[in-house]
Amino acid sequence: MPQKTVLAVNGSPRRKGNTAELLQRILEGAQAAGASTEMVHLYGLDFKGCLSCFSCKRKDRRHGVCAMKDELSPVLERIKDADAVAFGSPVYFMNVSSGFFAFAERLFFSNYLYSAEIPTVFPKKMPSALVYTMNMTKAQYEQFSMDTRLGIMDMSIGQHFRVPPRKLFAFDTYQFSDYAKYESSIFSEPHKASWRREHWPVLLDQAFALGKELVQWQDSLES
Ligand SMILES: Cc1cc2nc3c(=O)[nH]c(=O)nc-3n(C[C@H](O)[C@H](O)[C@H](O)COP(=O)(O)O)c2cc1C
Repeated sequence: MPQKTVLAVNGSPRRKGNTAELLQRILEGAQAAGASTEMVHLYGLDFKGCLSCFSCKRKDRRHGVCAMKDELSPVLERIKDADAVAFGSPVYFMNVSSGFFAFAERLFFSNYLYSAEIPTVFPKKMPSALVYTMNMTKAQYEQFSMDTRLGIMDMSIGQHFRVPPRKLFAFDTYQFSDYAKYESSIFSEPHKASWRREHWPVLLDQAFALGKELVQWQDSLES
């Protein structure tokens, strides 16, 4: 059987932040299941969101291809070639980060046609993971109806990849290496630290298991 490829897309500007660490662990799980892996840091790329040229919807052009040519273009192609994708974003202003949103516009809108008969032109079923990290607690996540606010990402992945993503949430994340240096009195650093000590290793284990699962899931889609 040819080696599987699992791609991770980091929607945080921090290459060593919470989101990147969980995505890295997913990739390590995928490697343990025999896959080759790649991490894409969106904020290291020079790209914009959709410019509304509608080339992807023209009858005389190839569908599923974004006409914008920039540093995101090869990533969009590699996603089509991958066997599974792990997406990750920090929550910014109650949503995904702007970089992740711009990426999502380019990926999903280019695979979408204004057609009731053709829900997507993405070429295949694709297992995926969706990782969110945020300052808020699980209770606040529920209080602010975050599932609804973030729902467009689930919906888009489900529509284009034909299977819903497996999700992993990191609440109450540790944001600064030294809280004493920042105006941050709404947070209790000791609470954040003890939360992290207790929950972070569990999340890393869950991420590793998820990485393995993505590869096995892909195998089951093929058989
Ligand atoms: C611009 C900005 C906006 C943020 N908005 C929110 C928010 O609305 N809700 C929240 O829970 N956390 C918010 N955060 C905190 C981040 O989501 C959180 O620290 C996250 O874990 C950071 O991920 P990273 O370490 O991968 O960069 C915000 C952080 C930044 C920088």
